[in-house]
Amino acid sequence: MQGGKLLTVLVCIVSTVAMVNAGDPYFYYTWNVTYGTIAPLGIPQQVILINGQFPGPNLNSTSNNNIVINVFNNLDEPFLLTWSGLQHRKNSWQDGVAGTSCPIPAGTNFTYHFQPKDQIGSYFYYPSTSLHRFSGGFGGLRVNSRLLIPVPYADPEDDYTVLINDWYTKSHTALKNFLDSGRTLGSPDGVLINGKSGKVGGNNEPLFTMKPGKTYKYRICNVGFKSTLNFRIQGHKMKLVEMEGSHVIQNDYDSLDVHVGQCFAVLVTADQVAKNYYMVASTRFLKKEVSTVGVMSYEGSNVQASNELPKAPVGWAWSLNQFRSFRWNLTASAARPNPQGSYHYGKINITRTIKLANTKNLVNGKVRFGLNGVSHVDPETPLKLAEYFGLAEKVFKYNVIKDEPAAKITTLVVEPNVLNITFRTFVEIVFENHEKSMQSFNLDGYSFFNVASEPGRWTPEKRKNYNLLDAVSRHTVQVFPKSWSAILLTFDNAGMWNIRSENWERRYLGQQMYVSVLSPEKSLRDEYNIPLNTNLCGIVKGLPLPTPYTI
Ligand SMILES: *[C@@H]1O[C@H](CO)[C@@H](O)[C@H](O)[C@H]1NC(C)=O
Ligand SMILES: *[C@@H]1O[C@H](CO)[C@@H](O)[C@H](O)[C@H]1NC(C)=O
Ligand SMILES: *[C@@H]1O[C@H](CO)[C@@H](O)[C@H](O)[C@H]1NC(C)=O
Ligand SMILES: *[C@@H]1O[C@H](CO)[C@@H](O)[C@H](O)[C@H]1NC(C)=O
Ligand SMILES: *[C@@H]1O[C@H](CO)[C@@H](O)[C@H](O)[C@H]1NC(C)=O
Ligand SMILES: *[C@@H]1O[C@H](CO)[C@@H](O)[C@H](O)[C@H]1NC(C)=O
Repeated sequence: MQGGKLLTVLVCIVSTVAMVNAGDPYFYYTWNVTYGTIAPLGIPQQVILINGQFPGPNLNSTSNNNIVINVFNNLDEPFLLTWSGLQHRKNSWQDGVAGTSCPIPAGTNFTYHFQPKDQIGSYFYYPSTSLHRFSGGFGGLRVNSRLLIPVPYADPEDDYTVLINDWYTKSHTALKNFLDSGRTLGSPDGVLINGKSGKVGGNNEPLFTMKPGKTYKYRICNVGFKSTLNFRIQGHKMKLVEMEGSHVIQNDYDSLDVHVGQCFAVLVTADQVAKNYYMVASTRFLKKEVSTVGVMSYEGSNVQASNELPKAPVGWAWSLNQFRSFRWNLTASAARPNPQGSYHYGKINITRTIKLANTKNLVNGKVRFGLNGVSHVDPETPLKLAEYFGLAEKVFKYNVIKDEPAAKITTLVVEPNVLNITFRTFVEIVFENHEKSMQSFNLDGYSFFNVASEPGRWTPEKRKNYNLLDAVSRHTVQVFPKSWSAILLTFDNAGMWNIRSENWERRYLGQQMYVSVLSPEKSLRDEYNIPLNTNLCGIVKGLPLPTPYTI
């Protein structure tokens, strides 16, 4: 008896150690998720706090660190956090979306454990459950380069996180009821910078301070609901240095269009007259622009910022041209010492082309969104768990959609949307947007090369114009109105991974799907065992865990 117990304990320790590299340092956090009341737009409203903060704390790390976060869900609803952009190599268990994890029940806690393996860059985390993200619970997430690996710019004086987002004064529950009733949301009520909104000429506390002559890094992420935001700073250029984990060619920009879910890191030098300056975040592509300002001040000065704000660009062609100026720096080091450009993605043969067309249709009189005619719903049993326990056929069907969608999608089927992709194949995904609205998509578990974004319809001939040399490797892709975007990647990370619209009403109403990437070898080399603390729900609740892999 005694011996049996000891053996179990030993097996647990061995399997935990096998999951992570024991040589990498551990960082432990306890996060208390609660409701609170604040008034970001002057009207008190319910928000979600992490350790009393809105936005949540910045999660600071270095490549390969072990991050252990014990999350206490003190809301009255099930809750999950996802780590946008972290690849979770072999470890979709930690991705924190409905297709991989049971939500953390209200009043309980769950411990995430992950390593940003061979990754650097600027990201953010947020709640993936319900519409919680629209009450808060999001925060910055950075992965610093290890000390021995050079970054292609001098160490900045400081490193600031700038979370920008559109915002509604209604609670997440009210917004959810609205979408559930079959309607879509109107324009946002305002825009926030790090949870605050400011007024020109108002008494705005500085959000950031710079020492004259020094250079600072600002990591700008659009953590919003559906609006592309243009970000600019009075009188200052922004030197773009990194995008979602890739070092880029360092161009200077007066302003940046940040589509929902995207992150940029820029360098800003305090080389102007010492006074205050406004940072502006304003919506793009909406009938009526909604905007906010925040103050950046020079140390030792309290001269008011000028009331004259830099204007936002007009039209989406500007945004497309800006996208085309983004280039990978081929000679810069990646998270490992080898240069980024040593991976020649342009020389690999494409084995499969998947076209994904987004649509908006009515289902039983209610608005739903979909991809290739399927509007995704999350089954109670997470897809990954159903698959892992050998019960997939009881929960969902693979490959309900075709790789080539119908020319015109007039109806939507509401069911789980899961594509099966062969491990380690090099795949082309073409996002087709036949609608007049702006789209942006995210793929979990990977970064990919966005080789082209063009107006009109995609045809195989368009491949001639792909950027097969220095497209930026990232995890989000924007698709302009009546346009398409193509991405290329190798599906070498086994797991169940979410492809989703970053427009949250579209994602919530079905414009998302999963790809199941299974390794034929049942081996720890390709995928970790299910963590022992995993919550089990739906049809796998109470079942014994499948036999773990040992090699
Ligand atoms: C979390 O916050 C709530 C409300 O402030 C408090 O009652 C609770 O004790 C906290 N829990 C932990 C684990 O800190
Ligand atoms: C963030 O991490 C880096 C390296 O891991 C460290 O140098 C820096 O001081 C940390 N910053 C904060 C604010 O903790
Ligand atoms: C919940 O928190 C306690 C510490 O307060 C910890 O011992 C336990 O492992 C946590 N549970 C989970 C499932 O992470
Ligand atoms: C690219 O990276 C290299 C190596 O770190 C650096 O020397 C160079 O300045 C960068 N080039 C551009 C155009 O940013
Ligand atoms: C890629 O495809 C071309 C043309 O079909 C073929 O000649 C070549 O051998 C392929 N390369 C690889 C690495 O499979
Ligand atoms: C996935 O696809 C491959 C090839 O298309 C097929 O052989 C395999 O049976 C599929 N697996 C599942 C679980 O559907």
